[in-house]
Amino acid sequence: MKHILDELDQRRADARLGGGEKRIAAQHKRGKLTARERIELLLDSSSFEEFDTFVEHRCADFGMEANKIPGDGVVTGWGTVNGRQVFVFAKDFTVFGGSLSEAHAAKITKIQDMALKTRSPIIGLFDAGGARIQEGVAALGGYGEVFKRNVTASGVIPQISLIMGPCAGGDVYSPAMTDFIFMVRDTSYMFVTGPDVVKTVTNETVTAEELGGAKVHTSKSSVADGAFDNDVEALLQMRRLIDFLPANNQSGVPQWPSFDDGERLDASLDTLIPDNPNKPYDIKELIGKVVDEGDFFEIQAAFAGNIVTGFGRVEGRTVGIVANQPMVLAGVLDSDASRKAARFVRFCDAFEIPILTFVDVPGFLPGTAQEYGGLIKHGAKLLFAYSQATVPLITVITRKAFGGAYDVMASKHVGGDVNYAWPTAQIAVMGAKGAVEIIFRADIDDPEKIAARTKEYEARFLSPFVAAERGYIDEVITPRSTRKRIARALAMLRSKHVEAPAKKHDNLPL
Ligand code: HXC
Repeated sequence: MKHILDELDQRRADARLGGGEKRIAAQHKRGKLTARERIELLLDSSSFEEFDTFVEHRCADFGMEANKIPGDGVVTGWGTVNGRQVFVFAKDFTVFGGSLSEAHAAKITKIQDMALKTRSPIIGLFDAGGARIQEGVAALGGYGEVFKRNVTASGVIPQISLIMGPCAGGDVYSPAMTDFIFMVRDTSYMFVTGPDVVKTVTNETVTAEELGGAKVHTSKSSVADGAFDNDVEALLQMRRLIDFLPANNQSGVPQWPSFDDGERLDASLDTLIPDNPNKPYDIKELIGKVVDEGDFFEIQAAFAGNIVTGFGRVEGRTVGIVANQPMVLAGVLDSDASRKAARFVRFCDAFEIPILTFVDVPGFLPGTAQEYGGLIKHGAKLLFAYSQATVPLITVITRKAFGGAYDVMASKHVGGDVNYAWPTAQIAVMGAKGAVEIIFRADIDDPEKIAARTKEYEARFLSPFVAAERGYIDEVITPRSTRKRIARALAMLRSKHVEAPAKKHDNLPL
């Protein structure tokens, strides 16, 4: 018996070495951890249970029959994050560059199936050279199997992708269909075709970093939802994110102990809004003061900064937050902001996460660049997402809520359950100056008359009370009481239940 156990130990030790000491050293030299080291950091200590340690590829071309490494370039299994079950697969770059073979794909799909069956989140750690070139079409088939499962699981279990090295060719589309993509700065890049192919086809000369590094994907393409400085930080931040997320679409949000009183008042909020309505202020200050212990996990922080999205907690339970940011483009809604927020709202709605919306929006951004870029369709995405959401929607208008953007930003009319306004709110078709210049066009050359009309318009319409008179606003609240009001509204809405009419699926304006 002993020799059998010894053999098992030996086989396991061999498998754990992946591509061998030399390649592990090369991985470390590049500032990257190995697949197993990453899993160790991601999961609770000693909680990892591995599947398919001994799986090998079945390729017999190009001398591959003599080149087999147990595990075949991906480490898969399950474990816990702060006691909650998750499934994980981590590409092992030291084994055939983490490339995907038929057997490698089967390991991933096994984990995807288990995650879906047990309704647990799944996290993929990517560091790979795409399809296993020696296998050809079998690898393509493998990718297809992974993609199909990504889509089946979408909206049922959270799927997270962390890019920690190369991620090219077939490897990019699985992350693209998951809920969140995060990257590691300087060591990770994503692209469909690499710099060499780009040079051949378009004659552009670009580096991998310029083509698909973390900066590009977090600030330009919006493919990635965030980036971190190194592997350790990225993995620890994934643990933090998982703590915010429900296990699945029916589990409800996790409930963590909170040491922050839901009834807490914050007098500093009474002076957050500057006297001058055109002066910006930081909406993140309000978010920080409303959520438990100021803990806010921002999604897409580097893209479309005119809208802020992310997760926080109120009384220990996760909320999704969407907020116009007056510090960037005065908080205007443009195509990028609309798309960013729409995707976030749909994630929250799919996973039963209540949404808090803080509104200070001067309208949609005018101009040919926006109109040619499809502002109508992109703006409609956010309108659609809010209108479709059945999760609790709580809205607080802090200052401007102008025009169509008023309707879009979780107004009462599109499904807001509890709609509050601060006394500083201005809910109107447009700002006073623009309105007066249209209505009183005849007086346009008479500055005195225009000034008087502007004052009149401001007094009548630029307040929360016209909307409150109609019941569009449920209550005008003191800024200091915002957290208390929200906590109470969230508690009241816990049992919210809405039946949408049966349909196959909607036709979101993509
Ligand atoms: C087999 C691969 C491989 C691959 C890398 N390796 N990519 N083996 N199939 N796709 C192996 C290398 O041979 C090498 O083996 C080891 O992994 C490390 O690779 P290096 O090139 O030495 O590393 P590095 O210099 O860091 O470059 C990494 C890389 C490069 C940028 C990822 O390897 C690369 O460009 N690979 C090919 C990428 C590619 O074209 N993939 C196919 C995409 S097509 P040794 O033994 O020397 O250590 C695709 C289509 C699918 O994916 C579409 C589905 C929809």
